[in-house]
Amino acid sequence: MWDFSGKTAVVTGAGGGMGGQVAHDLCAGGANVCMIDLKDMPDGYTGFGDRAAYFQGDLTDHSFLENVVAETCTRFGTIDYLVNAAGILLFDKDFGVVDMDFAVWDKVMDVNLKGPARLAQLCIPQMIKNPDSAMVHFSSIGAYRGDSKPQDAYQASKAGLIALSKSIAIQFADKRLRSNIVSPGMIDTPLQSRWDHQQGAREAIAAAVPLKRLGQTEDLSNATLFLLSDLASYITGVDLIVDGGLLALP
Ligand SMILES: NC(=O)c1ccc[n+]([C@@H]2O[C@H](COP(=O)([O-])OP(=O)(O)OC[C@H]3O[C@@H](n4cnc5c(N)ncnc54)[C@H](O)[C@@H]3O)[C@@H](O)[C@H]2O)c1
Repeated sequence: MWDFSGKTAVVTGAGGGMGGQVAHDLCAGGANVCMIDLKDMPDGYTGFGDRAAYFQGDLTDHSFLENVVAETCTRFGTIDYLVNAAGILLFDKDFGVVDMDFAVWDKVMDVNLKGPARLAQLCIPQMIKNPDSAMVHFSSIGAYRGDSKPQDAYQASKAGLIALSKSIAIQFADKRLRSNIVSPGMIDTPLQSRWDHQQGAREAIAAAVPLKRLGQTEDLSNATLFLLSDLASYITGVDLIVDGGLLALP
């Protein structure tokens, strides 16, 4: 369905649910893909040969990221796309601001907001050498609303990412670098493994979604690959909400 032959993408969170799907689908579409994650490389990349490069490490480690970007440019010559899909949601530690432990706040910001900013800083000088380069950053519908069980560090980090993406979009529009957001709703990934321990959780959440199902990793990968592709060449600075209609509910 997609043809990204000759393009090179950097994808964070590639050991997880949605980042893993995006990395796989970009490889399947012919791209060279530099994958970054704390976790081991998942199965499923053996068929892609040298086009799939996996770097295990921490997004909060600037020198690790410098090495990854340098190594990607050495191997593939350039960087066309950046997908910031890595993120953390510390369910048992991230609360409303009144109860916030600011060490938790700092950790969440470091991964969810400073990590994407660090990679943008390192990738943009490469990306603006190419026409039609693009970034997609993973926010959350949680950036748009309060919650009866607040996770204020997570929500603020994801709102900050929307602002960062819009700012990058305007700063580099004249270089034809586009920057967009995807905001997932309730997506069935390892991040939501808490649903495994609550009987009927998946069914109850699906019933509350207007389209009556949980989101799947493919739903976000399709949206991301569209925003990276030339089909979206006139789209920058937007947030594509992929939530089965949840945010549209009154
Ligand atoms: N699943 C959902 O319902 C949902 C909803 C809204 C937004 N999101 C966002 O979508 C993105 C993808 O989420 P997912 O559901 O696929 O989660 P996931 O947990 O399956 O994948 C996230 C990946 O990020 C990696 N990661 C975390 N911290 C890292 C670090 N410091 N350095 C390197 N890698 C690190 C993890 O190892 C993990 O593999 C995240 O940014 C998440 O906040 C998810």
